[in-house]
Amino acid sequence: MADKIHVTASKDYDVIIGAGILPETGKIVREILPQAGKVLIVSDTNVAPLYMKTVKDSLASSGFEAFEYVFEAGERSKNIDSIAGMWDLMAKEGFTRADAVAALGGGVAGDMGGFAAATFLRGISVIQIPTSLLAMVDSSIGGKTGIDLPVAKNQVGAFHQPSVVIEDTDCLKTLSPDLFTEGMGEVIKYAFIMDLPLYDLLRKTADEGKAAELASDTDMLTSVIKSCVADKAYVIANDEFDTGLRQILNFGHTVGHVIESRSDFSLPHGVCVAKGMGIVTDAAVKAGTCDPQEAAKMKDLIEAFGLPSSDGITAQDAVDGAMNDKKKRGDTLSLVVVNKIGKAEIVKVTSGEYLEFLEKGLN
Ligand code: GLY
Repeated sequence: MADKIHVTASKDYDVIIGAGILPETGKIVREILPQAGKVLIVSDTNVAPLYMKTVKDSLASSGFEAFEYVFEAGERSKNIDSIAGMWDLMAKEGFTRADAVAALGGGVAGDMGGFAAATFLRGISVIQIPTSLLAMVDSSIGGKTGIDLPVAKNQVGAFHQPSVVIEDTDCLKTLSPDLFTEGMGEVIKYAFIMDLPLYDLLRKTADEGKAAELASDTDMLTSVIKSCVADKAYVIANDEFDTGLRQILNFGHTVGHVIESRSDFSLPHGVCVAKGMGIVTDAAVKAGTCDPQEAAKMKDLIEAFGLPSSDGITAQDAVDGAMNDKKKRGDTLSLVVVNKIGKAEIVKVTSGEYLEFLEKGLN
């Protein structure tokens, strides 16, 4: 039995969450896109061997002609050459505006499939089919699509909402421990920025020594995913285009993205977000806005789920990297701070103020 969470945006859509729903992909897409004939399934070399056939067969049985674009797994593939490969394939196969892209996989597949769909013929439909925890709770929802440039992550992109998001929680059964842990970085983020009941649940799980077991407890994990998806849907409904409230989703990300780029993407996104949340929280304590006990609770939860809450980056490097970040507007950027668990605050800071703040949390 699948659940639906509705997302209200410039184009409304549902996030369908359920166990074993991947073989229903064709039926779901046919209902939503009755005119579509062709679907390009974008996936990576880790995910395609597991799920490509199921999705392709399901689409074929609902009358779609399905094509594959499989890229080398990893953030390093998130570039214009991959997108050009997708454009070429769709052009060669005669895709029209009635056709669609299906992004099958983690955050990279979702961002790239979404961006190829946003730009081909000035925009065709995209179906998001996230298979990682991180993509299920965050990146597949809300329409952010794009690619990286050598200078920084996600520098080119477009807002392009999906027509539907299909989340088969059975896919989590094949998730490696590392991918589970990195996804928890984004899950914990929701708890800190806006979801005290989620924090309490995660705290209880950790206190009972069951943090690692959560990965295999599909029922509990599904309920955690639903909480995060509902949180994200609320944020998108209130600020689709990232001009206000949506910026709270970037808690830990401004520092995290710099750490991620500087590692040449060898460190996973969720791990870098966890480091970023810890660094900002340390700085908030030294700035006198966050109670040390509250900060200790936050860092403890991050670490309880096997994530790091600090990094050796210098404040100057973190600021220099952030100045290339698209979250910057003019000379100011939006710093997201959590002084009380369950409520994020956005503070506009200049680069000088940001440096001064981070110097408190970093050596
Ligand atoms: N992942 C952050 C956002 O969707 O805004």
